[in-house]
Amino acid sequence: MSRFYFHQFTQYFMMVTALILSGCNKNNTDIPFNPVTARSHWNTKQHSWQQSELKILEQGRRLYKVNCGGCHGSDGLGDRLIGAPALKNNSIVKGQSQQHIQIVLYGKPNRSMPAYKSSLNNQQLAAIISYERNAWGNNSYQIIHPQQIEQQRNIQ
Ligand code: HEC
Repeated sequence: MSRFYFHQFTQYFMMVTALILSGCNKNNTDIPFNPVTARSHWNTKQHSWQQSELKILEQGRRLYKVNCGGCHGSDGLGDRLIGAPALKNNSIVKGQSQQHIQIVLYGKPNRSMPAYKSSLNNQQLAAIISYERNAWGNNSYQIIHPQQIEQQRNIQ
């Protein structure tokens, strides 16, 4: 094989490997993640997040929009007609994580806050709750872990 052909062969081989790897990655992460946009959303002079944390916050942002935004608003300001309180600067969202997790897991019976314990898994709930605790200036600079959600399950 001449040098030229060998070079072409290596290039082709690397391209195929890259395609296979990107395919696998897609299946494993199920949501697109752009580190540059994520950093621009979350990193401030006060706090710089690690990439693994940025992934959780971005997943939380998407899940919040779909599951919660209809009532609490993408801006976290709530909806008076529905009776959904603002989550921006909210005392529960800014308070102890236990109470926050409990409300999202079990909802408020007889009010319009649904229970999410059956429809979302620990990882998804941890992402949404982490998002709420850091979005709209809530700035807890903390990430909630799936084990913390698990601990609050089956308590009520
Ligand atoms: C159908 C409308 C609706 C949806 C959807 C909804 N909520 Fe609520 N949420 C409410 C209402 C209404 C309350 C107030 C309940 C009450 O009167 O105590 C509430 C209360 C809360 C509270 C407590 C705040 C406080 O001050 O009492 C949190 C935290 C919360 N919701 C988070 C979420 C999250 C997270 C989601 C999505 C996974 C979500 N909500 C989806 C309507 C909704």
